[in-house]
Amino acid sequence: MHNTENHTNTNDIYENIWECLDKGVKDRVSDYHTFSLATSSNDIAEIRTVVLRGYDKEKQSIIFHTNNLTGKINEIRDNPNVGALFYDKKAKIQIRCNGVAVINNMNQFCKDRWDKMSHQSKECYYQNITPGKIVEDPKIVKNQLENKLSQNFTVITININKIDWLYLSSAGHTRVKFMKENQFLGQWIAP
Ligand SMILES: Cc1cc2nc3c(=O)[nH]c(=O)nc-3n(C[C@H](O)[C@H](O)[C@H](O)COP(=O)(O)O)c2cc1C
Repeated sequence: MHNTENHTNTNDIYENIWECLDKGVKDRVSDYHTFSLATSSNDIAEIRTVVLRGYDKEKQSIIFHTNNLTGKINEIRDNPNVGALFYDKKAKIQIRCNGVAVINNMNQFCKDRWDKMSHQSKECYYQNITPGKIVEDPKIVKNQLENKLSQNFTVITININKIDWLYLSSAGHTRVKFMKENQFLGQWIAP
């Protein structure tokens, strides 16, 4: 683990960001296990919680799973520029990412991830009623798992182009901006 206790070196902060995301994928209790995903289309901003399922430090991307029939898919098709917000309450660190979302569906990438999922996780992608649709009674919503990759199973990759890192401290808040166009070299900014 890089020493970021004092948060004085932007390279260490950058390394620590990816260590936090690694923890988020592996540790369900970590604050980085979920993030708020913001989309914006047709003049409406939407935000919801999703689970961090993977990351690629070399490609600067993060991954989550979703149902292809959910509203966020249409919003991403309309405008693939999204936001991903993490907050580590104990460490008092906020990580705000901007990126471009790529929709993966019914390809080998999805199949590989599907094969590693539990039955319980797979079941959600075999729901009899489209997510977001009005139902007379919640009991009519059922999942019937089939033994094949669901066409509703979608993996979203967010290719990050900006990270805004903020650390809250009574001794003075610190904030760093990492831009893809600047090879993710950190720049201190006023908090
Ligand atoms: C803790 C938590 C984790 C969630 N994880 C996911 C997820 O990984 N993928 C997902 O599509 N929805 C997830 N949801 C549900 C979404 O927040 C949202 O309600 C749903 O995807 C429909 O969103 P949409 O209509 O904006 O597309 C999660 C909700 C909670 C509370």
